[in-house]
Amino acid sequence: MTILVTGAAGFLGTRLIEALLAPPGAASAATRIVAADITPPTVDDPRIVTRTGNVVDPSFIDSIVASDTAVVFHLAAVLSGQSEAEFDVGMKTNVDATRALLEACARLAKPTRFVFSSSIAVFGGPLPEVVPDDMALRPQSSYGTAKAIGELMVADYSRRGWIDGVSCRLPTVAIRPGRPNSAMSSFVSGIVREPLAGIDAVCPVPLDIRMWITSPGVVTRNLLHAGQMPTGDLNGRRSFNLPGLTVTPAQMLDSLERLAGPAVRARVRQQVDDRMMRVVSTWPGAFDTKHAFAAGFTADAGIDALIASYMREAGIQARTV
Ligand SMILES: NC(=O)c1ccc[n+]([C@@H]2O[C@H](COP(=O)([O-])OP(=O)(O)OC[C@H]3O[C@@H](n4cnc5c(N)ncnc54)[C@H](O)[C@@H]3O)[C@@H](O)[C@H]2O)c1
Repeated sequence: MTILVTGAAGFLGTRLIEALLAPPGAASAATRIVAADITPPTVDDPRIVTRTGNVVDPSFIDSIVASDTAVVFHLAAVLSGQSEAEFDVGMKTNVDATRALLEACARLAKPTRFVFSSSIAVFGGPLPEVVPDDMALRPQSSYGTAKAIGELMVADYSRRGWIDGVSCRLPTVAIRPGRPNSAMSSFVSGIVREPLAGIDAVCPVPLDIRMWITSPGVVTRNLLHAGQMPTGDLNGRRSFNLPGLTVTPAQMLDSLERLAGPAVRARVRQQVDDRMMRVVSTWPGAFDTKHAFAAGFTADAGIDALIASYMREAGIQARTV
């Protein structure tokens, strides 16, 4: 069998492939993993076949979907900042390429498990304190709109029996290693990652704004689960608000101080950026995730555990764990 991962060179794609390869991961010795990305994926394993190309190109899509493709993790996407700045690039990558990939999967003999990485950006406008599972989708960005279209396509292709889809609405994934990226949520990782690296950081939003976040480890496990979970009794409810933590920047900085000390926390100063503030204040801060828990998805233990796991991975000694 073949497992296809698009966006395989990205932050989550790389982790997902490592998790698929690690015992007792989903990839047995007989499994082939096609790792597709516009940037050459770097994971090295005999089970990996790398494919470098643009998912907007239909011939590339045809080259990555094999007749025995049993599971697709569709992670390739243009993120929120770039989608807002470059409407066409966002729509071509996030909508047109998703449709082309669904079409290629629909031509296969057996319905492929199609895991679509959606986002909480599908929600917007007036929202209750806790967003219920059946909240109407009212995205307030081109990125969120594209993800909402993707979810609807996944649901309809599944209803027709052409694929077996699961859409995962990912919380903001933090703490993301490396450098800031083009996502509007990049600061959420930055206010922990940069001070831990001895770099001054700016929090561009008020310290009491609520954010919905998850760790890279938990979200990777949840994506793997989406690739294997039973879908027979979903009754068409194929979109899941993945579990997350409701935290404010202030709570993240308190945790940072507990784990790394006051001098590290002091490297973060607040300077509100009105443009960022307008966008971030539309993000929902808390979700009812009953549907996801009932389907077997899991949550982070808390903000200290989330930041401690980043510090462990980065080789930074915590004061307490
Ligand atoms: N990380 C988060 O906080 C978060 C939150 C919600 C949703 N998501 C979704 O999860 C998925 C993965 O996110 P990530 O954080 O790993 O992002 P990322 O930017 O690290 O990875 C995306 C990958 O897609 C590739 N890509 C982009 N355009 C492409 C194209 N036209 N053809 C081929 N490859 C292309 C990029 O090269 C990159 O390697 C995305 O769909 C994203 O929208 C992420």
